[in-house]
Amino acid sequence: MYPVSRIFKIMNKEKIIEQTIAFVKQTLQGAEGGHDWWHIERVYNNTKNIAAAEPVDIFIASLGALLHDIADAKFHDGDENIGPQKAREFLESLSVDQIVITHVENIIRNISFKGGNFTTSFSSPELLVVQDADRLDALGAIGIARAFNYGGFKNRELYNPGQSPDMNMDKETYKKSTAPTINHFYEKLLLLKDRMNTATGKKIAEERHAFMEKYLEQFYGEWKGEK
Ligand code: ADP
Ligand code: NI
Repeated sequence: MYPVSRIFKIMNKEKIIEQTIAFVKQTLQGAEGGHDWWHIERVYNNTKNIAAAEPVDIFIASLGALLHDIADAKFHDGDENIGPQKAREFLESLSVDQIVITHVENIIRNISFKGGNFTTSFSSPELLVVQDADRLDALGAIGIARAFNYGGFKNRELYNPGQSPDMNMDKETYKKSTAPTINHFYEKLLLLKDRMNTATGKKIAEERHAFMEKYLEQFYGEWKGEK
């Protein structure tokens, strides 16, 4: 038998997760198809899968996964504070521990790639797991679908043979880029498999990476009318 206080805590966490799911679903209604509730659900599932082999606090990792795109700077004039702030306000409304809230804020602030050419100051096992979970959703068949959906949302070209990928963008240039969607494969998607944090994440990333390589080969073949 668990002591009563422990049972209370376990139920409380489940309830907090339930309420967080409801909050995220509601907040992301009408979001771009690559950053909507279904993206969050996939990242949440990836998180639970990866976390099974990692020494993490699953409650914190779950909240991080569920809230990581609650107000993505890309869709809020580049404001990187809105997401962490919204998450904090929501979790405070549920009386979640301050330590947990601060950790979740740090996950949201530090999860994003943004060109990858800079260093961050915060790290934790929970961040590393959620980051892998989010990165996996940028890869493979889903990753391809999300990239072209985002490109369409931003009215970008699919591909432009005259415009090469820019591999040395700093964070600001990366965020302002209006390059064709195929360039994003080289500027981000194909770099991810070598940046995975966990063994589980890396294995799945390699499979999804191979699928994208095949996809690109077919894409160029069809572009030239050769396939
Ligand atoms: P960031 O790349 O800034 O870390 P995200 O991780 O939120 O941003 O990006 C999530 C997904 O949004 C990417 O994996 C991709 O599918 C899509 N996306 C972001 N930027 C682009 C872009 N320039 N072209 C195509 N898709 C993009
Ligand atoms: Ni995400």
